[in-house]
Amino acid sequence: MPLPRLRLVALAAGAALLLTPLAPAGAAEPGSLDALAAAQGRRFGTAVDDAGLADPAYTTVAAREFGRVTPANAMKWDAVEPRQGAFSFARGDALVDFARAHGQQVRGHTLVWHSQLPGWVAALPAAQVRGAMENHIAQVAGHWKGKIHTWDVVNEPFNDDGTFRTTSPFYAAMGEDYIAYAFRAARAADPDAKLYLNDYNTEGSGAKADAMYRLASRLKAQGVPLDGVGFQVHLATQYGFPYGMQANLQRFADLGLDVAITELDVRMPLPVDAAKTAVQNDYYRRAVEACLGVTRCESVTVWDFTDKYSWVPSAFPGQGSAALYDEQYRPKAAYDAVRQALGGGTTPPDTRAPSAPVGLTATAAGATSATLAWQAATDDTGVTGYDVYRDGARVGSAAATSYTDTGLSPSTAYRWTVRARDAAGNVSAASAEATATTAPGGGGAPGLVVQHRVNDQSATDNQIKPGLRLVNRGGAAADLSRVTLRYWFTGDGGSSSFSAWCDYAAVGCGAVREKVVALPAGRPGADHYLEVSFASGSLAAGASTGEIQLRVNKTDWSAFTEADDHSYRVASSYADAPKVTAYVDGVLVHGIEP
Ligand code: XIL
Repeated sequence: MPLPRLRLVALAAGAALLLTPLAPAGAAEPGSLDALAAAQGRRFGTAVDDAGLADPAYTTVAAREFGRVTPANAMKWDAVEPRQGAFSFARGDALVDFARAHGQQVRGHTLVWHSQLPGWVAALPAAQVRGAMENHIAQVAGHWKGKIHTWDVVNEPFNDDGTFRTTSPFYAAMGEDYIAYAFRAARAADPDAKLYLNDYNTEGSGAKADAMYRLASRLKAQGVPLDGVGFQVHLATQYGFPYGMQANLQRFADLGLDVAITELDVRMPLPVDAAKTAVQNDYYRRAVEACLGVTRCESVTVWDFTDKYSWVPSAFPGQGSAALYDEQYRPKAAYDAVRQALGGGTTPPDTRAPSAPVGLTATAAGATSATLAWQAATDDTGVTGYDVYRDGARVGSAAATSYTDTGLSPSTAYRWTVRARDAAGNVSAASAEATATTAPGGGGAPGLVVQHRVNDQSATDNQIKPGLRLVNRGGAAADLSRVTLRYWFTGDGGSSSFSAWCDYAAVGCGAVREKVVALPAGRPGADHYLEVSFASGSLAAGASTGEIQLRVNKTDWSAFTEADDHSYRVASSYADAPKVTAYVDGVLVHGIEP
């Protein structure tokens, strides 16, 4: 990780020079898009949405390639002030923390916009809109003061014909003046942030670009603190490349403003084909070249870098493939086109395989499944997943470092290995082998498996509602009167007496018995279990009991915290549940106890 750079800050009065460590100047990993841009005095950024931050394959690329990040949604009005005066900054804070951890700058997006605006703003009496807007700016820009490189202060003020978007609640209440008010409020709240106007379809010459140009000129003439103009540049292969983009950006720069490409993507009507791809590559290249051709064009930001999180398919149904990387984080030809435009040449193909996973363990989970776990492998471009092999044959894959192998036979020894994969498809050597032997089927009923789903809307309310299904994958009928199931949970304080209920069972609740049993000593994720047994009956080979809907509450109806319960799974449809256990004559035949 590069050290935070020192930036010279000139103080007007006294002409003193201070060396202050400011927000780090950029990720600039050697060879990255941002490093190539930095060599030309620019930054290369990306939009990042909340989902990406939780996806390690995503964050690897986001941290490596980009020097600036824009929250795709997390700082919008509906995210930060959903109700008047009720601010929530957590989503934006997460993005700011990510950026700081990786030496990246943040483009704040966006303070005043007609879209993703909670209804309460438009419902205000006109006389109150200015106050609400200025308060919003003071609170939001104030919260992130000193942490935001650039704010999109006003987003999308114009209609496509260059008239003001008069339907915006801000325009409706204040007319054009709302823009000047917003910029002044933003400057007051965060004096160091660069303040931008931002819009789409303004990148090429035309009525809308002219309207933006006249607005920027007026604001400058009025002494409004406007630092730059952002051009979104959401392009589509079927609509042509904006006419005269570089000259258009240049005339804004000539007003004494910075300019930036803020939301670049190039979508196409699906399916992808070679001709559309060639157009896409060309548009990406020309957009970057237009920026580089203007000295004051200080950055290019793409509106997310992977098709996995691109906004295009939901905003433009039938269109897609708009980003530089595909959904598996493989760089597309457009990525190379951008590199070339930045003077970087094509990427050498990634031929280096990840390291072999180490520390593989296998634990039999009863008679028919086993759980595997290993340590993360490493790779120069990032590990994108793992393949699991059982007795030499690939049986599945995992995004993270664990896997549950199901459909095994009782009393059988198995051997597993795991290999790591990267985005280019390079596969590591196999891990060392791990072995485990499944439990005996027990009681003449080999192959009993419990499936589970959550029937509960809330994991923090006063009831636990597991749905269970007992499936016989063995070759012989199972005597249900000898079978018990255990759903393991913690009581979480409150009363230590419980009620258990059967709300519905395909076999009839009359055929099912349920009770809560306390453990003599607490175990990880459990101090009680819900035990289910059957009055009588036989479960034929291949058959299922069908759904059994269960429910547990404490007699004082205090709340549970289910997320940490051993048997809890976040799943609304049935799947094999190795942490809900099954027994024949009291002998474990399925699953792992806590
Ligand atoms: C988009 C986001 O990417 C989507 O997730 C969201 O549903 C809608 O907004 N112009 C902008 C961005 O200024 O804020 C928009 O972002 C894309 C168009």
